[in-house]
Amino acid sequence: MSCMPNLSKLGLGGHTFIEELGNDPLASFEEQCTIVRECLDNGIQLIDTTYYQERVALGNVLRALGRRQEVQIMAWNFFNLPGQSDKLVGYSSYEPHHIDVMLSELQTDFIDVLVIHTHDDEHKLLQEIELAKQWVEQGKVGTVGLGMAEPAHLNRLPADHPVTHILAPYNIAHQRTKETFVIAKEMGLTTVALSPFVRGWKLDEINSEQAADLLLRWVSEQQVVDRVIVSMRKADWVHTNLQATQRGTLTEEENRLIKEWM
Ligand SMILES: NC(=O)c1ccc[n+]([C@@H]2O[C@H](COP(=O)([O-])OP(=O)(O)OC[C@H]3O[C@@H](n4cnc5c(N)ncnc54)[C@H](OP(=O)(O)O)[C@@H]3O)[C@@H](O)[C@H]2O)c1
Repeated sequence: MSCMPNLSKLGLGGHTFIEELGNDPLASFEEQCTIVRECLDNGIQLIDTTYYQERVALGNVLRALGRRQEVQIMAWNFFNLPGQSDKLVGYSSYEPHHIDVMLSELQTDFIDVLVIHTHDDEHKLLQEIELAKQWVEQGKVGTVGLGMAEPAHLNRLPADHPVTHILAPYNIAHQRTKETFVIAKEMGLTTVALSPFVRGWKLDEINSEQAADLLLRWVSEQQVVDRVIVSMRKADWVHTNLQATQRGTLTEEENRLIKEWM
């Protein structure tokens, strides 16, 4: 194995691979390969995929690069539903056949972190957690995450649950997640903050050269945050964002600016 760079707190978001939900136009396949290569070469090893289109794209990129083994793949329950292949379709509860579909889209035999999108049907959620546990036992899944989690979901987890990761949007427009993450840390779970830039739209709204740097540092420095997922349709963002996370604590002046943007 080649020499591993220091692992970053930063992870790559799957919206990188689709046209919707971002600022810049769709990255070409070549650009997508460059982005993932830059990530892996610089210690960004965690890659999140939400929509099925992102799994297909990441599968193709990793096959072209021949670097599947270096990536920690996180995948959510958003599927290719009949007649809706070209749409971004909301989540569906996990069913037994889903895991093989996901593995095939990703062109792999193993998903590192399988994410279950939470909802309020307690019974169904428990069934999904049980199913994920079976997939862990079968060796198809490494570990399990709960997505869009809130405190109530954590409090209701059964004693023998397989969940190790908690994922939720956490940014200056969505600060309530802190409460969830505090509980998650008390339970010894790994916390994954999503969308530090509120999909990039917040950056447009603030329109300051410092915005991306400060918003990313604001999240990544929170003690209750273990990982931060950002989507980046340009390879340049990889270095910009890595440098931001290494820049350290916000100064008083920087904190004041952030309060203004809130
Ligand atoms: N928010 C949710 O509800 C949610 C739910 C499930 C999963 N996720 C995960 O979280 C990931 C990230 O969320 P997100 O894409 O919604 O929002 P985000 O990461 O907050 O914002 C991404 C946007 O920020 C821009 N950007 C990235 N780095 C930049 C920089 N240094 N300077 C200027 N602009 C920069 C990107 O521009 P480009 O257009 O150039 O890329 C992109 O449009 C998703 O990919 C997904 O994996 C989020």
